[in-house]
Amino acid sequence: MDIIRVEGGHRLSGGVRVSGAKNSALKLMAATLLAPGRTTLENVPNISDVHVMGKVLKRMGATIEVVDEHRLAIDTSAVDSWEAPYELVAKMRASTAVMGPLLGRFGRAKIAMPGGCNLGARKIDMHILGLEALGVKFDTDHGYIHADASEGLTGTTVTLEFASVGATENLIMAAVRAKGTTVIDNAAREPEIVDLACMLNEMGAKIVGAGSPVVQIEGVEELHPVTHRVIGDRIEAGTFIVAGALMAEDGDIEVTGFNAAHLGMVIKKFELMGVQIDRIEGGVRVHRADVLQPVDIQTLPFPGFPTDMQAQAMVLSALADGSSVITENIFENRFMFASELVRMGASIRIESHHAIIHGVQGLSGAQVVSPDLRGGAALVVAGLIADGYTEVSAIHHIDRGYEHFVEKLVSLGAHVARVNVPDPSDD
Ligand code: EPZ
Repeated sequence: MDIIRVEGGHRLSGGVRVSGAKNSALKLMAATLLAPGRTTLENVPNISDVHVMGKVLKRMGATIEVVDEHRLAIDTSAVDSWEAPYELVAKMRASTAVMGPLLGRFGRAKIAMPGGCNLGARKIDMHILGLEALGVKFDTDHGYIHADASEGLTGTTVTLEFASVGATENLIMAAVRAKGTTVIDNAAREPEIVDLACMLNEMGAKIVGAGSPVVQIEGVEELHPVTHRVIGDRIEAGTFIVAGALMAEDGDIEVTGFNAAHLGMVIKKFELMGVQIDRIEGGVRVHRADVLQPVDIQTLPFPGFPTDMQAQAMVLSALADGSSVITENIFENRFMFASELVRMGASIRIESHHAIIHGVQGLSGAQVVSPDLRGGAALVVAGLIADGYTEVSAIHHIDRGYEHFVEKLVSLGAHVARVNVPDPSDD
């Protein structure tokens, strides 16, 4: 099996450019279903989740040309199936993002019910409630959700119980083809949703308010293919910012390829901890913080502190001069990372949704397991400063969302390598 081995203690220098945002690219790919013809997406990250979404679309009859490593030409003219099969939804629950566009274009969808994941139940009840308000009829059998909008979609006002990213996206992608106007109240405001709305408007949709809590969508008859560039990945950027804060040689490293405004709360909290982060063209310059102050963080929907940066923030807190509290409000089970960090010497106590982190002088390298995509990346980053070697396994999680992660760290001077080791379960 492949693991990532890190030798701690090597300073970083230079700069890194992040890839396109996974959590935008996946939805933009799904949205091509709404515009028969050939849409070209640029700055697409070369990661396994994108490959899975490609399989979902091809299974429906779309063709995908890999123009180059980061440019996909997706033609959905010949799509004649509306099913997201279990084996692909089980691999990647974001496959459920095809539900809205399938309903918008074909008036029907058959989606395998997404199972839970390491983060929790990951239900889609809010997606379904919102789509039912637009006139979609649902039933479920044999582990599949059957959605029927053969009587058409009718615009209405939908108030989300929680500002769910996925529910907001599915509702927008269905509403663009509804009769009349839809208003989504308490909509999620993530930058990836703004990116999706931008592309849909380029395709001919009429969406206003994306990025605010109230999004208004006036239904249109048809959407046309476009060329659209995916925004930079703010979470990948935040991950490298933590690496720089811990290990930048001579003071700083540059992290570019993203919009720093998409990480406002993260930068604010890290500056409170004593990390100097300067805005530069196309990103930030982050300075090493030799003394880190403790911090209190609540993960919340954008513009609050993103849950996808919780593990990375915990690495910084683990080395702060004092005690921090990180509260996870988005997922019911996103502290498994903490128990891996404790194996590296961190002092962390979990009480329900709160992690109480008492800063320690240093971390020690250990064999650890990636609990999920972001936790895995955070363990590699912790290994950069830990004493000795850290070996991170279950790195398929990392490959889902971090393109060329090892290569990017090596380009900054890290002593990191992907190595193949015998799988203990093979004994
Ligand atoms: C998106 O997931 C992201 N994934 C997640 O990133 C991210 O953590 C999350 O938004 C929050 O920002 C993609 O975009 C592919 P939600 P999503 O709907 O859409 C509950 C990563 O590491 N909920 O805002 O699933 C849900 O169980 C991933 O890149 C319901 O109960 O997030 C969760 O606890 C991890 N019912 C919470 O809300 C619903 O109908 C947030 O879910 C929908 C959601």
